[in-house]
Formats: sequence, structure tokens, C-alpha cells
Amino acid sequence: MTKPYIFITRSLPEEIVTPFQEKFNVKMWDSEEQPVDREVLLEEAGKADALITVLSDQVDEELLSRGRQLKVVANLAVGFDNIDIKTAEKNGITITNTPDVLTETTADLTFSLLMATARRLIEANEYVRKGDWENWAPLLMAGHDIHHKTIGIVGMGRIGEAVAHRARGFHMNVLYHNRSRKKEAEEKLGAVYKSFDELVTQADFVVCLAPLTPETKGMFHKEVFKKMKSSAIFVNTSRGDNANEDDLYQALVEGDIAGAGLDVFENEPISKDHPLLSLQQVVALPHIGSASVETRKAMMNLCLENVQLVLDEQEPKTKVTS
Ligand code: DGY
Repeated sequence: MTKPYIFITRSLPEEIVTPFQEKFNVKMWDSEEQPVDREVLLEEAGKADALITVLSDQVDEELLSRGRQLKVVANLAVGFDNIDIKTAEKNGITITNTPDVLTETTADLTFSLLMATARRLIEANEYVRKGDWENWAPLLMAGHDIHHKTIGIVGMGRIGEAVAHRARGFHMNVLYHNRSRKKEAEEKLGAVYKSFDELVTQADFVVCLAPLTPETKGMFHKEVFKKMKSSAIFVNTSRGDNANEDDLYQALVEGDIAGAGLDVFENEPISKDHPLLSLQQVVALPHIGSASVETRKAMMNLCLENVQLVLDEQEPKTKVTS
């Protein structure tokens, strides 16, 4: 009997893949960084029983209708805005993601980015390395306090709660906005529910952790930035499309807000000539929210376990539904 065929769109460490090779025929795209060619992906989708994809792979109608024997697509991310879930469901293809295993790691990065932006860590590091540090000065690289300030979390899912937990450790006042009230987070973390408008008006740090959906796309735009405090810092570690980058740039240049910590962008990788990158008050990272070695390996393992469960005709651990 031929083994089921799994195609993985990036090269993953051998130690992760080897245990599954006895039971499955596993092929990987030969680069860790370069995305798989679209034509190759479409061809593989037509032959594979399972695909393991990353967030830059478009798993759309064209791809999903190629899959004559495709049973499962395991996305190496908690977000799944790159996947047409409705078409997958219509075609009987199971979709899985990687929640939980990345929650704490992504919260760590979100809070680090908030701190790095507020306390100007990247700018200060460059200043020292360039040899510009000649004297101590009273306001040298002075940034914004974090402790006892107000954080406003937009999108109070698992990662939002983990960020709120960290914020409490810094004696911050925690506001949140979410599609539905989170009573447990309110009781456990003292988080206070606010309307979106109230939150953006009152918070010193506005942190976007909402998934990308038609409702959230572009939710941070010109008028919203204008409502924020001029000392506010905007942090985005969910999806770049949730903010309008032209409006964000204008808001920073015109002083509507004080800074931005960005791990995600409308187009990734962001071009080095992008106007946002010309601003000192912007800290930009290459979408590394969940990028610790431990967590990325846990995500890879979860993808492979989900694939194995579906191919064994069992319920996967973390199935996505519309
Ligand atoms: C996710 O899991 O959706 C992240 O954005 C990838 O690190």
C-alpha cells in the first residue's frame, strides 16, 4: 500500500519530520525562507493527501479545487486569514491551525515590542553602537513610562489575556475591546470592557491583537488615530491589514500619536523604503510574534499531529471552522 503523501511548503528541521516518515511520504519545499512557487504549490495540492502551509501561502479556491485527494491543510499559525475556510468546508478539506502553543510566546513579544517602543530601546542601542554617546544628559533617550499607565487591548482572545496578565505585573490599568464580553478576564485580570471609541481615546498603549476579518480590516484608520492621545503608542502584532499604513504614517508625522511598535505589515516583507521605516518613533519587526525555537517547534509538531489524526480518520486537535 502506498503511503499518504504530505507536502510541506517550507523546509522544516529533520528531527521534526523524521518520526512521521515511517508512516507518510513527506516532501518539503527546499527553502526555509523562500516561499514555494505558486505553480509548484498548485501542482502539489493536486497530488497531496495533506499540505502544511504558512501564512504567506494563499490557500484559495483555485488551490482547494485542485486537491483531488487533499484531506487536510495544516496552517503553521494561529491566524488563518490566508485560507478560504468556506471553500475548504464545501470541498470536505479539514483546516487546522496552531492556537495555545504560541500564546505565551506571542504575548512576550507583544509586551517586549511595547516596551522597546515606549523606552526607545532600538534607537538607544543604535546610538551607542554608532559612537554618538558622548555625555550623560538629563533627557537623553527619555521615553514614556509603562508602569501605572493604561493599556487598551483590542481583541481579547488567548493572546490578549496573556498580554493583560503581563500588564498587570506592571501595575497597568487594563482596558479591552472584543466582539463579546470576557467576564472571566474581567474577574481574573481586572480588565475593563470599553467600546472601541472609548478604548482608543483613553489608552496610553493601544494594542491590536484582533484576527484579520472583513470586520477588522482597516479598523485603525485616520479618524481612529486622531482620537488617540498624542502621547499614545500603537502596537500591532496581529495582522498588518488591520491598520491603514498610510494613515498611521500621517498620524505619526503629524503628532496625532507618539509611536508605533509593528510586527506585522500590509505587505510582508515590508520594503526597506517604506515611509514608516524612516521614522525613529517606529519599531519594526519581521513578523516574529511566535518565533521562539521552542514554540516554533511545538507549532510544527502540532501541524504534523493534526495531519496524522486526519489521515487516520480521527478528529484533529485544533480544527478551524467557519
Ligand atoms: C500566527 O500564528 O498567526 C502568527 O502571526 C505567526 O507567527
